[in-house]
Amino acid sequence: MQLVLDHISKSYGRNKALSEFSATLSPGIYALLGPNGSGKSTLMNIITDNLKADKGNILFSKTDAPPKPVKALGVSYREQVGYMPQYPHLYPGFSVEQFMWYMATLKELGREYKGKERKHYVEKQIDRLLTEVELSHVKTSSVGSLSGGMKQRLALAQAVMGDPAILILDEPTNGMDVNGVIWLKQYLKNLKKTGKTILICSHSLNIMEELIDRYCIIIDGKIVNDEAWNYKEVQNYCYSIELDEDKCSYNKAKQLLEEVGDIQKADDGRMNVTTKYKILPFCEILMKEEIPALDVTVEKESLEKIFIESVGING
Ligand SMILES: Nc1ncnc2c1ncn2[C@@H]1O[C@H](COP(=O)(O)OP(=O)(O)OP(=O)(O)O)[C@@H](O)[C@H]1O
Ligand SMILES: [Mg+2]
Repeated sequence: MQLVLDHISKSYGRNKALSEFSATLSPGIYALLGPNGSGKSTLMNIITDNLKADKGNILFSKTDAPPKPVKALGVSYREQVGYMPQYPHLYPGFSVEQFMWYMATLKELGREYKGKERKHYVEKQIDRLLTEVELSHVKTSSVGSLSGGMKQRLALAQAVMGDPAILILDEPTNGMDVNGVIWLKQYLKNLKKTGKTILICSHSLNIMEELIDRYCIIIDGKIVNDEAWNYKEVQNYCYSIELDEDKCSYNKAKQLLEEVGDIQKADDGRMNVTTKYKILPFCEILMKEEIPALDVTVEKESLEKIFIESVGING
């Protein structure tokens, strides 16, 4: 599966919401991060074909074949995209079951079957989905009577209906309590194992941290950080090293480690190294370079730290 976003731009009047956004997505979980108004929902609306871009192309391939423009693919692209909008409109007067039937009709679920067979197939799918999102017990209740977290799970159920290859989730944790968030993380991790491509935007960086494979930060519709490759794996580790400076000076150690990662001197004189190497290979490097460390502590570089460095504390 490949989804290519090729120089997507969108303005609302004079307001440039997205500017030349390019990225390629393959199976895995991606986070689209950015402050309010940075263009995340706009991009998601364009990917899901709810909004036309002013410029740029989207290309898609479900297999390893070269991706084709989604304009030419039409329905065969749209049926591969499940979308949970930031503010889903869920028809409060419908029962949960009626809402799911309505979505099934819009998506032409089970169109390969006829008459009773189709009805049976759709019923089974709806039952399965409502069980998955733990809403079976309220299937005859009105959508309007559901709690905020339940509404989010219903919005998710309609997004995964029809088994799309791509899931676009705009702030899925909004209104979810702690248990709901834990449930959602596990649900998405399981979906990932089935080979789906999941793009999420969320302001809850700590939730994103353990879920995602890659992330992209946008500000004012433009990608920040890495210029050559729009997504960067969240895999950096920070090591804080107390050097034995009698045996090796800070500057000498810095010189030896320069190719390994980013090096900074901490206020307490320790050497901070941000690198992609995990602890064992990193210690092997220290030994190979004969860098005398009295103490090494490690922490994974947090998404929050990366975000604040990119966006600034006030967004
Ligand atoms: N329908 C619209 N008409 C006019 N301007 C819009 C419209 N939708 C979005 N915008 C503007 O486009 C920019 C990007 O908005 P967008 O909703 O994509 O941001 P966002 O990153 O999703 O923000 P948030 O984190 O608040 O959800 C903002 O400046 C916003 O005011
Ligand atoms: Mg938004």
